Amino acid sequence: MSGHKSSYYLTTPIYYVNDVPHIGHAYTTLACDALARFMRLDGLDVRFLTGTDDHGQKVEKSAQAAGVDPQAFTDKVSENFRSLWSDLGITNDDFIRTTEARHVRACQALWSKLVDADEIYLGSYAGWYAVRDEAFYGENELTETPDGKKVAPSGAEAEWVEEPSYFFRLSDWQDKLLAFYEANPDFIAPASRRNEVISFVKGGLRDLSVSRTTFKWGVPVPGDPDHIMYVWLDALTNYATAVGFPDTDSAEFSKFWPADLHMVGKDIVRFHAVYWPAFLMAADVAPPTRVFAHGWLLNRGEKMSKSVGNVLRAQDLVEKYGLDQVRYYLLREVPFGNDGYISHETMVGRINSDLANDFGNLAQRVLSMIGKNCGGEVPAPGDFTAADTALLNAAQGLLPRLRADYREQAFHRALEATWGVVGDANRYVDDQAPWALRKSDPPRMATVLYVVAEVIRHLAILAQPVMPGSIDRMLDQLGVAPDARSFAALETPLAAGTRLPPPEGVFPRYVEPDQDGG
Ligand code: ME8
Ligand code: MG
Repeated sequence: MSGHKSSYYLTTPIYYVNDVPHIGHAYTTLACDALARFMRLDGLDVRFLTGTDDHGQKVEKSAQAAGVDPQAFTDKVSENFRSLWSDLGITNDDFIRTTEARHVRACQALWSKLVDADEIYLGSYAGWYAVRDEAFYGENELTETPDGKKVAPSGAEAEWVEEPSYFFRLSDWQDKLLAFYEANPDFIAPASRRNEVISFVKGGLRDLSVSRTTFKWGVPVPGDPDHIMYVWLDALTNYATAVGFPDTDSAEFSKFWPADLHMVGKDIVRFHAVYWPAFLMAADVAPPTRVFAHGWLLNRGEKMSKSVGNVLRAQDLVEKYGLDQVRYYLLREVPFGNDGYISHETMVGRINSDLANDFGNLAQRVLSMIGKNCGGEVPAPGDFTAADTALLNAAQGLLPRLRADYREQAFHRALEATWGVVGDANRYVDDQAPWALRKSDPPRMATVLYVVAEVIRHLAILAQPVMPGSIDRMLDQLGVAPDARSFAALETPLAAGTRLPPPEGVFPRYVEPDQDGG
């Protein structure tokens, strides 16, 4: 952990409450949850934030369509997110809503700082706006459909807007942002997103419209309540609100700010990697340390979205395959950062090979042999052979690798490395054939079973961030006390003589439901 501070502050996007949550939202939040759990197990003081983006024209329109006032509407939809996270075992430390008083105060304070710094001026906006993206677009970014509609690269329809507006002097920030990216090569990841952002900024920045007057659902501009703040200025500020902004001298803010990671999807990288650091630097607040923009989960070849009509719900997948199975699959199957297809076939493949066969069976067969042949107690090992030491070293070498992988949000690499040792352990068991030693050399059998049990303990402790529930049960069966499951506890080997409960499979195979019910 050298070179890193002892706290870790990470955030998900705050999701719009115009929509029901789907597996795309869950993907981002699950990845953050695995990361938050990893950092906690590694002894860091973690703050993990998620929440909802309650304001804006899109939400106001959805409330109107539902025939309810926006506050009642957002109360209800925000609750859907909160309860989904609880169903998925998400360990967020806070849940923020932009309609909360603490947040309105923070937004207005940030606005006033920007005004004081002469970063905001009153003008009028005439240009394109896409409500679905809550984004302003230049004419050159839009394409025209055969029926004459203007469409943003995201597919969202843009409309012409003309209204009085305050502007943020974004055009002044081009060189300072480019210098910031240069000095902080890890600020935006993966590299494809970094290149995209740098070329966008090099292309020139126009001043950004940061207030609206044609609707009401937002944070009032201090001193000019005809204006409400642009929803993205409001939304981005949530990350600072949640750690005490504007009280920048508070212990909480000093401890957690700047945020270590804003995890987002690639649709909103521009807001996080261009506008947000510019707003913060303009207000003399440190920008975040890192923005990771992951790819799309695709279903039937298209980004999942309500408008395409191809959304999968996290709850349905969890009911069908199991929570830890879905968590493992999503983080293992798609190299984090890339777009990824999800399918029933690849899901079942991962569940039955990686989990049931490779890891589940390893634990199950070793624990049953210990139950049958060692009196249900962790056996006492004798001297270690070269093969024993090689396997133990492989397991002990995982933590430093995983630390590096998690710092880079390379979940797939962390799991691949972990399952590399699962494979080593299976080969070791086949080679050592402890079942054959039962008669010929019982002390050697005891050593072999001890070595595998100790390696499984490592693998299990390190897999907790991704599959917390199943692994808890596996660690129970290994006799590992609940307070001996942190990464620091890896250094204390399994104690011989520990009594073990009867083993039970932790990773069941997925069996196709009988088609005709018979
Ligand atoms: O943009 N695949 O909220 P939002 C992967 N309120 N990730 C997906 C996804 C998919 N198919 N669909 C959605 C907003 N996501 C703003 C954010 S933050 C200050 C304000 C995830 O409800 C992904 O993280 O449209 C994406 O960036 C986010 O949901 C967009 O959520
Ligand atoms: Mg969106």
